[in-house]
Amino acid sequence: METPKIIAIGSDHAALEVKDRLAGHLRDLGWEVRDFTVVANGKADYPLAGRKVALAVAGGECPRGVLLCGTGLGMSYTANRVRGVRAALCLNSEFAALSREHNDANILVMPGRATIYEPHEKILDLWLATPFSGDERHVKRIRMIDDPEAG
Ligand code: RB5
Repeated sequence: METPKIIAIGSDHAALEVKDRLAGHLRDLGWEVRDFTVVANGKADYPLAGRKVALAVAGGECPRGVLLCGTGLGMSYTANRVRGVRAALCLNSEFAALSREHNDANILVMPGRATIYEPHEKILDLWLATPFSGDERHVKRIRMIDDPEAG
């Protein structure tokens, strides 16, 4: 069965413009976009959207997620606290491809205002298009994230 094209997205105040641009890009590509950004008094604290997107992905509501903050670091810390989430901070498309092939990353994290080496859209498109390799060694290591004994 094909994975439904539903994607969760969220940002903090440092990346709202990029988030809106990428949401439009995803809709143009046929994705149903669920935006979990929470803005209050002009600020959007990264732990709020980060956790909501992580829960939507871990719970299966959205098979993929995209998170953005100034550096991408706060979103990474937050999302990776949720069991089952593998959130990958990617500054270029090589990281994007490897995070899918080796780590089966289910959330892509990018910075909104820190240095990024390729356009966000290029990184996102490659990340979405790259399948998990399914290699036994990578499957084993992914299991070991939650269960070190699995090795
Ligand atoms: C917000 O100013 C900034 O701290 C945030 O965007 C992010 O970079 C945190 O990791």
